[in-house]
Amino acid sequence: MTTTQIVTIAIAILIIAGVGVVLTSSRRESVRGVGTLARETRKKDRGAVDPEQLTGRQFEAVAKARSAAIVAAPKAEVEPWSPPDAEAIGVSRRQFFNRATVTLMSASLGGFGAAVIGFLWTSSSGGFGSKINVGNVDDVIGQIRANKGFLYFPEARSWITEYPKESLSKGKDAYGHQGPVYSGLESGLIALYQKCPHLGCRVPECKSSQWFECPCHGSQFNRVGEKKGGPAARGMDRFGVSVTNGNVVIDTGTVFGGPPIGTNTTGQEAEGPHCVGGGSH
Ligand code: FES
Repeated sequence: MTTTQIVTIAIAILIIAGVGVVLTSSRRESVRGVGTLARETRKKDRGAVDPEQLTGRQFEAVAKARSAAIVAAPKAEVEPWSPPDAEAIGVSRRQFFNRATVTLMSASLGGFGAAVIGFLWTSSSGGFGSKINVGNVDDVIGQIRANKGFLYFPEARSWITEYPKESLSKGKDAYGHQGPVYSGLESGLIALYQKCPHLGCRVPECKSSQWFECPCHGSQFNRVGEKKGGPAARGMDRFGVSVTNGNVVIDTGTVFGGPPIGTNTTGQEAEGPHCVGGGSH
């Protein structure tokens, strides 16, 4: 910064300061009358009594007359004080957030609880998870045969197939420990859970091979759900079956694990081309 610029800035500051001083002085001039009586006031006071001229008695008489002229204000009725209701006078922000949090938490927990109860109480609704009546035993067997060996019940998420009577002795060894499953075999029926024991895909029937063949990774099971090939670690899971008053009832409330690899109670081999895994016999 050059000397000329510094001098110019200094002069500008001095001019501004000078203008400020002049304005402040003029303001003082305009307020100089503060504390002195205005002309109207002095005019009003002109006829008034000069207290300096009065004697003591006269001064008292004037004061008395002035007091008498003052009208006393009527006495107001005073309501007795009672403390305000904290609930009625409003809710603080902290209270609002606390209550909102508690309400939302309660609603969420209530909804979750209701959903859990609804899920666990499926048996009362008659859906999957309960005992499902799938119809007259003769009709069921007739439908299985009409459908080339397989019958699907979506409500029970199950396939029903026939269990050969001649395999019962082997079946007792393999399934005797699963009482409800074995009693179904004695009635000539087996109910297989549709879910693949490998990774849970729905396993369809293959009418040509007369097996169940999983399209996901190629697991294969014979018509009574015993493992024949693919990556599944066991046979198809199954449900208990009972015949009550001539009606077939599948108890989907309990899932019995499928038989271990190597179980082959019926000796059924593929009866035609496979649906999965090349389609060869
Ligand atoms: S899910 Fe069926 S074979 Fe993998």
